[in-house]
Amino acid sequence: MTAGATPPRGRFIVLEGGEGGGKTTQSLALRDALTARGRSVVLTREPGGSPLAEAIRNLVLGDWPEGVDAVTEVLLIFAARAAHLHATIKPALASGRDVICDRFVDASYAYQGAGRGLGAARIAELETFVLGDFRPDRVLVLDVPPETGVARIAARGGNNRFDAESLEFMRRVRQAYLDRAALAPARYAVVDAARAPDIVTADLLRHLAELP
Ligand code: TYD
Repeated sequence: MTAGATPPRGRFIVLEGGEGGGKTTQSLALRDALTARGRSVVLTREPGGSPLAEAIRNLVLGDWPEGVDAVTEVLLIFAARAAHLHATIKPALASGRDVICDRFVDASYAYQGAGRGLGAARIAELETFVLGDFRPDRVLVLDVPPETGVARIAARGGNNRFDAESLEFMRRVRQAYLDRAALAPARYAVVDAARAPDIVTADLLRHLAELP
């Protein structure tokens, strides 16, 4: 690259899936593998990923005396997403860095659209408003049976109010991820995350190898 030339845009890679699929472990493993290949990588998460978005995360994942209704929940999550895009994701990609994000807009389709029952059309409206035509280059869905995910959470203890949701809720979440992946198979990969972590990592890296 000549001095002053614009670097090629980085790749935007999202890890998704229901609870207990090992996203955190896998995002660290992918970061290490891509870094070892000479890529510069930003690891981030949603809700959160910038100071303002992390403040919103604390609001939306918190327990409030009046509860958090589904509309408030989805608007806070998209507000955090807008802040995250502006402060972290877009600048990193523009500077040529890869971004690995632990959850992104598919989580809103799965948790708020399907889990909470707001419906995909509402989420699509917010997606258009907040993201325009910005989309991840690859969405890696770590798929585990909801029973396995719920058992893993029970073993490690819940982190937030989503971890207390019912098996039925987790089933809707999982189905939404599978449906989203089936709609755009070129951008999504569904990976069986019930296997040993290093086997899952190798599988994920295989899917990323197709990226430019
Ligand atoms: P976190 O503790 O990061 O959970 P996990 O380790 O399972 O990713 O909490 C994030 C929670 O936020 C998670 O339970 C799913 C939820 N969430 C939504 O409901 N909608 C969204 O759009 C996003 C990004 C997250």
